[in-house]
Amino acid sequence: MILVTGGAGFIGANFVLDWLAESGEPVVNLDKLTYAGNLETLQSLQGDARHVFVQGDICDRALVDALLHEHRPRAIVHFAAESHVDRSIHGPGEFVRTNVEGTFTLLEAARAYWGDMAEPAKAGFRFLHVSTDEVYGSLAPDAPAFTETHPYEPNSPYSASKAASDHLVRAWHHTYGLPVVTTNCSNNYGPYQFPEKLIPLMMVNALAGKALPIYGDGMNVRDWLYVTDHCSAIRTVLAGGRLGETYNVGGWNEMPNISIVKTICAILDELRPSDDGPYERLLTYVTDRPGHDRRYAIDARKIERELGWRPAESFESGIRKTVQWYLDNPTWIANVQSGAYREWVSKQYAAG
Ligand code: NAD
Ligand code: TYD
Repeated sequence: MILVTGGAGFIGANFVLDWLAESGEPVVNLDKLTYAGNLETLQSLQGDARHVFVQGDICDRALVDALLHEHRPRAIVHFAAESHVDRSIHGPGEFVRTNVEGTFTLLEAARAYWGDMAEPAKAGFRFLHVSTDEVYGSLAPDAPAFTETHPYEPNSPYSASKAASDHLVRAWHHTYGLPVVTTNCSNNYGPYQFPEKLIPLMMVNALAGKALPIYGDGMNVRDWLYVTDHCSAIRTVLAGGRLGETYNVGGWNEMPNISIVKTICAILDELRPSDDGPYERLLTYVTDRPGHDRRYAIDARKIERELGWRPAESFESGIRKTVQWYLDNPTWIANVQSGAYREWVSKQYAAG
C-alpha cells in the first residue's frame, strides 16, 4: 500500500492509473478536490478495491495520522499542491498554505509514523516529494540546463512555495533522518490536464473558435515532458533513488511557447479542420505574465546515469497523442469547464 496525495489532479491521477496498471499495489489517495481535482479522471477505478479515495486536506494532521495508522503505507508520494503560476500571482496565500504548511504537516505525520515503525519496514519506508524545475528560476538563452546543484532562485509565489517545501523535505532528512527523495520535473503535458495550463487551454480555445492567448512575445522556453514519462520517473526514483537526493526529470524538449501553439494548430488542421480556416488565425498576443520566467531547461543526466531512466515519448509523438485525447474526450472537457473555471478565464484574460 502507498499513500498518494493530490491523486485527483493532473499528474497525480495519471500516476495512480499508471501505478495500478504497472504494479497493482493498492493506493490510498488523499485529495481535497479543489477546482483542480477531478474524480472523473479516476472513473475507471470505480469499484476497484485497490484504490481507496479520501477527500481531505493535507494540512489536516489528525486525518493524515489516521490514514497512516489505518492503511500502514510503505511510502508516501506527495503531489498535492496549488500548481498554477497565474493563480499564485492573483492569490498567493493558498500556495503558502497547501505547498508549505501542507508539506510540513505531511512531513511531521510521516516522521511520527516512520519513527514508530519496526524493521525491516522502517528501512524500506520512503517519502517521495514531487517538485518542479521552477524552483531554480530563469535561465539565460545560452546557459546550461538546470542540474541538481543549481542554486534555488524561485521567482513566482508558486515556485517560492515549492522551493520552501523542497527545503523542508531536505531538512527533515538531514535533521531527523526521514527517508526522503525529491524529484524536480519540467513542464508536463498529456491527458487530463486542467485547461488553465498552456497546452489544454490552447486545445479547448481552438476547438471553441476562441483566441489563443500568447503571453509577451511567445518566446519563453519550457522543457516539455509527457505525463506518463513523469510517472515512470517517479516509480523509478521511488524504487531506487538514493535517500536525501534530488533527481531532475525532463524530456530534453526545450521549445518556445509559440512553437508549441503552432504545432497544436497544425495537428488540429489535420485532424479536425475548421471551416473558418487554419487555427493559427486565432493566435493573439496578450499582456505578459508579471515576472514571467524566460527559460527553463532540465539536465536529466543524473537520473539516467544512476537509475537508467529516460523518457519514452518524443515531443512529436506525445503532443499528437495529447491532441487526439482532447478530441476524443469532449465530455471530460465540458465537465471541467464549470462556473468556477469560467470565472477564472474571464478574470485572467479580461485585459488581454
Ligand atoms: P494539479 O493542480 O492538477 O493537481 C493538484 C491536486 O492537489 C488537485 O487534485 C487538488 O485537489 C489537490 N490539492 C490541492 N490542495 C490540496 C490540499 N490542501 N490537500 C489535499 N489535496 C490538495 O497539479 P499537477 O499539475 O498535477 O501537479 C502535481 C504536482 O507536480 C505538484 O506538486 C506540482 O508542483 C508538481 N509539478 C507539476 C508540473 C506540471 O507541469 N504540471 C511539473 C513539475 C512538477
Ligand atoms: P503554464 O502552462 O502556465 O506553465 P508554467 O508557467 O508553470 O511553465 O505556462 C507555460 C508557458 O506558456 C509559460 O511560459 C506561460 C505561457 N502561457 C501563455 O503564453 N498563454 C497562456 O494562456 C498560458 C496559460 C500560458
